[in-house]
Amino acid sequence: MKIVKVNNYEELSAVAADLIAKQIKAKPASVIGLATGSTPIGTYKNLVEMHKRGDLNFIKVKTFNLDEYCGLARDDAQSYYYFMMDNLFKHINIPKVNIHFPAEKDSDWYDKEIAQAGGIDLQLLGIGSNGHIGFNEPEDVFHKFTRVVDLAPSTIKANARFFKKMEDVPKTAISMGIGTIMAAKKIVLIAGADKAELVKELTKPVISPQLPASILHFHPDATIITVTSR
Ligand code: F6R
Repeated sequence: MKIVKVNNYEELSAVAADLIAKQIKAKPASVIGLATGSTPIGTYKNLVEMHKRGDLNFIKVKTFNLDEYCGLARDDAQSYYYFMMDNLFKHINIPKVNIHFPAEKDSDWYDKEIAQAGGIDLQLLGIGSNGHIGFNEPEDVFHKFTRVVDLAPSTIKANARFFKKMEDVPKTAISMGIGTIMAAKKIVLIAGADKAELVKELTKPVISPQLPASILHFHPDATIITVTSR
């Protein structure tokens, strides 16, 4: 697990976007796994700027998002589909057919789609304040495949900031499994200043499903970009 320390959110976003751009330039038909949440917004802004400058072409790129809420339509402003359109997809030249989101279909449908696309070349991750990646919440076991998950009370509380009423916050989501994430050839996890203590915890040589991101110790090419006050 490689740790890259940066000074602020702007640097975090630039470093993450550069890693994604490097991947796409090296392999124009890359398969990229994407995350939502507050942390990647700056990364996506940088990617859009690179595209607008003519430096980055998404025409052959395929994307697979990590997760989606259950019960929200794609045009719901809180859906992750909407978020991705708004922050990235509508500003770049990715063909719509190349964009993938998990949905409540057969249990192994999403994992099969990813495999058929050749597997994920680079997976971007955020991290929940409880250590979740995707929506793999702290539990007694690691789940391998994409599936419907019950969101932890702390996650529901954290997600509430985007909704008008607590009752509107989804309690379930469909998320890539830990096995799906770990099968990516390269992983880039971005953690803002609010997650600095959590990243310290993560660097301890302990792997536990109670801290789901700790599984990244087993990944051969995982980079954590973390904002630290030096
Ligand atoms: C989002 C996702 C989540 C978030 C995490 C951090 O697709 O899978 O794991 O990455 O909850 O969210 P922020 O960036 O809002 O702190």
